[in-house]
Amino acid sequence: MKFYLAILLVIVAVVIADKEEDDVWRSYKKKYNKNHSSKEDANRKRNFLKKHKAIEAHNRVNKEWKMGHNKFSDMTEEETNVLLGTKMVKRRVKSESEPSYPLIERALPTSIDYRSNRCLQPVEDQGDCGSCWSFAAITALEFSQCKKTGARGPLSEQMLVDCDTYNFGCNGGDFTQAWQYLQDYGGAVNGSTYPYVSGTTKTQGTCNSRSNAVVARVGYFNWVIPYPNVTLIMSYLQSEGPLASAIKVLDSFFYYTSGVYSDPACIVSDEYDVNHAIVIVGYGTVPATTTSPAIPYWIVRNSWSIDWGNRGYFFIRRGVNMCNIESWAAYVRVA
Ligand SMILES: *[C@@H]1O[C@H](CO)[C@@H](O)[C@H](O)[C@H]1NC(C)=O
Ligand SMILES: *[C@@H]1O[C@H](CO)[C@@H](O)[C@H](O)[C@H]1NC(C)=O
Ligand SMILES: *[C@@H]1O[C@H](CO)[C@@H](O)[C@H](O)[C@H]1NC(C)=O
Repeated sequence: MKFYLAILLVIVAVVIADKEEDDVWRSYKKKYNKNHSSKEDANRKRNFLKKHKAIEAHNRVNKEWKMGHNKFSDMTEEETNVLLGTKMVKRRVKSESEPSYPLIERALPTSIDYRSNRCLQPVEDQGDCGSCWSFAAITALEFSQCKKTGARGPLSEQMLVDCDTYNFGCNGGDFTQAWQYLQDYGGAVNGSTYPYVSGTTKTQGTCNSRSNAVVARVGYFNWVIPYPNVTLIMSYLQSEGPLASAIKVLDSFFYYTSGVYSDPACIVSDEYDVNHAIVIVGYGTVPATTTSPAIPYWIVRNSWSIDWGNRGYFFIRRGVNMCNIESWAAYVRVA
């Protein structure tokens, strides 16, 4: 009797668990507007439930940063890897003879946050295209242009994706090479007249920029050197504005929602072990409490839409070269 009762309880538990899984899957699809064919639905559901378990397990133990569902939850790793479009080529450091400007000798503030600065354009979505390098290059250039002239307006990421022969369109690139291309070409073109479309077309288009459409010329750019140097990056943030950089993205990072991201697996010795371009827009420190020490962080802008992470941004541990973020900071100035 007891034996049959035990079996019955197991069956009931399984049925309840299945029902719960069905419910979270259904509400996820509704929230993120997912409409899969019935053939595809089972595979998507399997991807989703795997992520769901990983997210719940992470949030149970990790108090520093949280994970949550987003548009990536039912995707395969092959699909999310499309977004990782940074290919850092051998670093070319400009020689000392090229124009360089002394850093402003001012005490560093305890925090900087450019997120609501009028010179920063809204967070965008690179979509199904490895064009993060173009978004990082253009965001920093837009800021510099606005800081210098006061005129704010979008510059074209699509022109770089389509035209920049130093990089690889939707297959990745290096933001400093993008600035080099723009310098050689004549400048960046108007983002309103050459808008971004590769997020949905998933491919690079035909180059159709005309040089008379140039609205911002690249003056000088360079890496923040010597690197990695936290103080120097903070100082360039203060004097230049947002800085492009690159990071190594681990699978867990896709589901970041809040807190200060860190992962021991993301502290790596090879500086070339990076796969995603982003923009550092500030820094700060989570104050110490009686139970935990202070946590210094960078404020970083992503190009996975405003619905991703913390309204398009994330916080990541500062001072330990987490994910190599302190090895690739670079700045650009308009001419
Ligand atoms: C989902 O897709 C099917 C066929 O692809 C379509 O007939 C249906 O209207 C779509 N439903 C929604 C809610 O978009
Ligand atoms: C960019 O194009 C838009 C739309 O044509 C126009 O309103 C704007 O003035 C242009 N910006 C610049 C800086 O030329
Ligand atoms: C970082 O750069 C600053 C300014 O050049 C320098 O004073 C400091 O010693 C450097 N720190 C490290 C760890 O190299």
